[in-house]
Amino acid sequence: MTVGIDKIGFFTSPYYIDMTDLANARNVDPNKYLIGIGQRRQSVIPQTQDTVTMAANAAAEILTAADRAQIDMVIFGTETGVDNSKAAAIYLQDLLGISKRARAFEIKQACYGATAGVQMAIDHVFLHPNSKVLVVASDIARYGLETAGEVTQGGGAVAMLITQDPHILALDGQSAFHSDNIMDFWRPLYRQEAVVDGHYSTDIYIDFFNKTWNQYCYQTKRTLADFAAMVFHLPFTKMGLKALKSVVADADNANQLLHEFDFSTQYNAEVGNLYTGSLYLSLISLLANSDSLHPQDRIGLFSYGSGAQGEFYSGTIAESFDRAKLKRQVDRLLENRVKLSIPEYEKMYQSGLPLSAGEVTFDIDSDQSRFVLRGRHSDQLEYVDTKKSEQNA
Ligand code: COA
Repeated sequence: MTVGIDKIGFFTSPYYIDMTDLANARNVDPNKYLIGIGQRRQSVIPQTQDTVTMAANAAAEILTAADRAQIDMVIFGTETGVDNSKAAAIYLQDLLGISKRARAFEIKQACYGATAGVQMAIDHVFLHPNSKVLVVASDIARYGLETAGEVTQGGGAVAMLITQDPHILALDGQSAFHSDNIMDFWRPLYRQEAVVDGHYSTDIYIDFFNKTWNQYCYQTKRTLADFAAMVFHLPFTKMGLKALKSVVADADNANQLLHEFDFSTQYNAEVGNLYTGSLYLSLISLLANSDSLHPQDRIGLFSYGSGAQGEFYSGTIAESFDRAKLKRQVDRLLENRVKLSIPEYEKMYQSGLPLSAGEVTFDIDSDQSRFVLRGRHSDQLEYVDTKKSEQNA
């Protein structure tokens, strides 16, 4: 029996800014953002979207009624929780109409949470072959206006259905991991924006990649020659490139791995950082955009969450993988986005749900997404499935 990613869906905000516009507004040479950092555009998250609505919008497009009935575990990876106690997975389960005979919970370890979810899901399906597990990664990356990290903001969600005999990626079941107490990036309870030492974080990320990659090679006896491509957690696309370059120098397939890496960054360069979802958006980007990958080709995945946890694992492309369908879905979503000016973005950036108590109502008519956040009333978040409201009207 093989277990892995059977379906994968992606959602991001309908709004974006252009990195050339941001560079000009910040008096920076645009090539620093476009080439030095490797980002072209950045999603801007409106007040009507949060990690729950984005996850629901990502998952709704991939789940059938049969999936909803069969899912017995919902795992929500995020570092942008909507409550200090209640798991975002419970809201998600309810919004999507997933069976109530399910475990639903949230995992936090910076940008790594969803990978812990995927690993847990694999073990679960091996033990219970008829189970389906929904794993979502949903986050909003915020560093603050006019900060060094501003160019690496973004947001969105990736939803994955983990099952037996998967149609996208069969996971190998072997992985190597490494953790250590590192202060490279964190978000104190009183802050919505991250505290980050970006250069230090990049060094630790490359170090953790090397440690987990070497450990994986030792465990599996595989080498770079066994891989058609590698995908990385991508806070910004240049970060993954630095990690890949740190190991490929002497490999016979170095050019191929670097070529495929380009495909794996296409969507991330358009969306920005998704924290937990970044690695999985990079996987989508590779699978949807590369025309030289084949069934059975092996892909390596490096997951990293500051603080810090790293994990390297791998999988092979399924025979039945439908590249055109995945590409159509994501391209349509990105093509339909609306460009904001920098003043419009700055206003939207500061307009989210306040941290202080109080009644809040947002104008949900301004957001055409299926799932939206209407506001907060009596200390409770109010989510709306606009499709359901239309049916009830
Ligand atoms: N043309 C082309 N490249 C240029 C350039 C220009 N005009 N000006 C600068 N660059 C290059 C630099 O050489 C550098 O490249 P290198 O990293 O290959 O050496 C790159 O652009 C970035 O320049 P730098 O001076 O290091 O930028 P910075 O001090 O503004 O910081 C980050 C950049 C990425 C570190 C910062 O945005 C950040 O901290 N982001 C958050 C990262 C994060 O989230 N980490 C934790 C999660 S894992």
